[in-house]
Amino acid sequence: MRACLRAPVDRTPVWFLRQAGRYMPEYMAVRKHHSLLEICRTPEIAAEVTITAAERLGVDAAIIFADLLLPLTPMGLDFEFLAGEGPQVRTPIRSLEHVQALRTDRAGELVYVAQAIEKVAAHFRAPRADGDQLGIIGFCGAPFTLASYMIEGGGSRNYVEAKKMMYACDGAWPLLMDKLNAVLVAYAQQQVEAGADCIQIFDSWVGALSVTDYRQFCLAPTKELVRRIQALGVPVIYFGVETASLLPSMAETGADVIGLDWRIPLDQGWRAVGPGCGVQGNLDPIALFAPLEVLESRVREVLALATGRPGHIFNLGHGIVPGTPVESVIQVAEWVRRFGANSPAGQADPRREHFVGRPAS
Ligand code: CP3
Repeated sequence: MRACLRAPVDRTPVWFLRQAGRYMPEYMAVRKHHSLLEICRTPEIAAEVTITAAERLGVDAAIIFADLLLPLTPMGLDFEFLAGEGPQVRTPIRSLEHVQALRTDRAGELVYVAQAIEKVAAHFRAPRADGDQLGIIGFCGAPFTLASYMIEGGGSRNYVEAKKMMYACDGAWPLLMDKLNAVLVAYAQQQVEAGADCIQIFDSWVGALSVTDYRQFCLAPTKELVRRIQALGVPVIYFGVETASLLPSMAETGADVIGLDWRIPLDQGWRAVGPGCGVQGNLDPIALFAPLEVLESRVREVLALATGRPGHIFNLGHGIVPGTPVESVIQVAEWVRRFGANSPAGQADPRREHFVGRPAS
């Protein structure tokens, strides 16, 4: 949490995108008996999966086990996960009337995520041997990425339907952004009240947009979401993939930390977001399949490009994929703890005063 605010840290903190998932035997053992949605909707199991992954890997933060698409259900859209094909929305929204019919008054139904966070927070309440507490990260989708699933009905290559709704300029797109934000702020609030120290906003597919379209259709609603989540008293990490050209605009959202994907050298990404933001990233998740000496050189490279500057959170540049050797992930966490210990004391972020509501853990 100190790194989120660019305050001095005694070493670079580390966690991993999708640190609980199918590469991990402990997760697969739980998955044998429960569907993905059952795990998400059962606080005891979601908390157990979250805690097991964070402890097994020796990381500095636990991200709550949930899925990006959970808020679609209380908005009135059914979806399912088809094996090997990812999420499928049963009746994608394609018109102003469809957007008008979406509900925004049932975010309370997502309370199972907050209940899981409460359990994780209770488990990690005791400080570790080094005196620090694990950070607890809540998350939600960004309005563009969630809208893309609602409109396309699943993953997409060209985002034709989503962009058609943006370009139609018939009021459907801005209304959809507003409705999503209403639900996402309420959802984030539940997570913060339950003990989340910070919220990560996933805009995974924002790289499908030109800078012009991002600025015209997505920057304002995303900025509004960031502002309203920060007003809950926590810092925000904003992450997307294939964002090299979008980084300066993404920084304009006011997020405390920008998550960099693995395609851009970290120093170049940091220059693009400017000095007023921390950065998170950005090891290529596929480097985890490399021999250890290659992997070590990549980890050292990411740390070197951050030059020990406060405000770097070590992570991957996208999620861990199935088949990743668990031992390599554990090794990376250990290397970051060892090699990332030379941060000079830096300039504290004056905006830190905004976050007095929650003690830095
Ligand atoms: O990091 C963690 O350990 C927390 C768990 C987490 C999941 N989904 C569980 C999950 C997180 C942070 C997410 C976010 C999420 N979900 C994103 C944004 C992150 C990113 O990777 O960009 C997106 C785009 C989704 C939507 C989603 N959920 C997709 C596209 C898929 C299918 C992926 C595939 O390869 O099949 C999922 C399923 C999913 N969500 C799995 C997990 C562990 C794997 C499927 C399973 O266990 O059955």
